[in-house]
Amino acid sequence: DGIFDISNRRRLGRSEAQLVQDMYDGVKAMIDAENALEKKGGAAPAQAAPAGAPAAAGAMVKAGPHLVDIKQLTGPVEFPAGTKSLVCKYLTPEIFNKFKGTKDKAGVPFELMVLSGCQNIDSGIGAYAGSHDSYSTYAEFFDKIIEDYHGHKKDGKHISNMDHTKLKCPPFSKEDDAMIISTRIRVGRNLAAYPLGPGITAAQRNECEATVSKVLTALDGDLKGKYYPLKGMKKEDQDKLIADHFLFKEGDRFLSSCGLNREWPDGRGIFHNDAKTFLTWVNEEDQLRIISMEKGSDIGGVFSRLSRGAAAIEKAAKFAHDDHLGYITSCPTNCGTALRASVHIKLPLLGSKANKADFEAIAAKYFVQIRGIHGEHSETDDGIFDIPT
Ligand code: ADP
Ligand code: ARG
Repeated sequence: DGIFDISNRRRLGRSEAQLVQDMYDGVKAMIDAENALEKKGGAAPAQAAPAGAPAAAGAMVKAGPHLVDIKQLTGPVEFPAGTKSLVCKYLTPEIFNKFKGTKDKAGVPFELMVLSGCQNIDSGIGAYAGSHDSYSTYAEFFDKIIEDYHGHKKDGKHISNMDHTKLKCPPFSKEDDAMIISTRIRVGRNLAAYPLGPGITAAQRNECEATVSKVLTALDGDLKGKYYPLKGMKKEDQDKLIADHFLFKEGDRFLSSCGLNREWPDGRGIFHNDAKTFLTWVNEEDQLRIISMEKGSDIGGVFSRLSRGAAAIEKAAKFAHDDHLGYITSCPTNCGTALRASVHIKLPLLGSKANKADFEAIAAKYFVQIRGIHGEHSETDDGIFDIPT
């Protein structure tokens, strides 16, 4: 029945409040389009052909799933024609030769930062930073990816604003609200004291878990909750938390390639309050993913609880942050706000194959992305989508 996850696409160079606004505006436009289609009886417009991307040339090591170790990256990488990732676009032979064999200040090899995109040629981006310093030491590479993805220039400054009163999100009408199943907003954070996930040691990860879980379990009021380590969690409890959209999945191949899944499940876990409206993932892709979610479409309420919770955690934990990139995350798509605001929404007509081009055009216009409802890289089988800002 056409359910999607619709969320903001941009994360950097704009405030948190502006990104939540992106999501609201995009969702509103999609609802209007869905309603218009319903009136018309669901007629399908012609579909536009997707644009192709040029391949990199003159390389020595072929990209593909056989690349499982950085030792195999002995020369510039040749991607198959049609590869669309930003690693394919910006890991030129010049950049590769300039940085091969070097490490950032935390000791993370450059090759580890690009291995995911070289191994997984279906990546959208394909790069992960090993530490906060990776973004400076390899600025010549990461700044291009960041400008391409976010439109944020190499001298751009990032300014945060988590003030929910700045939102212009009037409540949806009763009919429109009925299309929205749930709302979720998350921000990613990493501790200033440690490298990012690809570069962290097992001991540092455990230390990070101990610090973060202590901060989280000291929260009070409606944020008060418990920390549940993944290690020792019953399989059925873990599966239920995943199925109910609260917990991360495991075994993401993009994260495996950059070393983010080492020593799984050690050091990983989830904190949540009793109502499961305020949660934090610990040591998945980022050291913290702070999450506010609930059924229904009260975007302002969800954002305000998130900003309260994130501020309370930040009082007790120093996060990696700078003026250019805002909050620092391992994936360059998340730097800045690291915020993804999404709704799960039923769009059976707009979301049908026949209307794909229109659906994607609205998503592009409002800077929102369309996911399936079982997390990133999931397809929608039942017409509900995750629309992030
Ligand atoms: P992230 O937001 O951290 O990038 P995913 O897209 O993988 O990660 O989603 C993580 C989990 O959150 C998945 O189980 C997904 O279904 C759930 N989720 C995302 N948006 C919503 C929403 N609006 N309502 C309910 N669950 C959601
Ligand atoms: N590395 C993956 C890719 O390039 C994921 C990128 C964005 N998602 C994320 N979870 N960081 O397609």
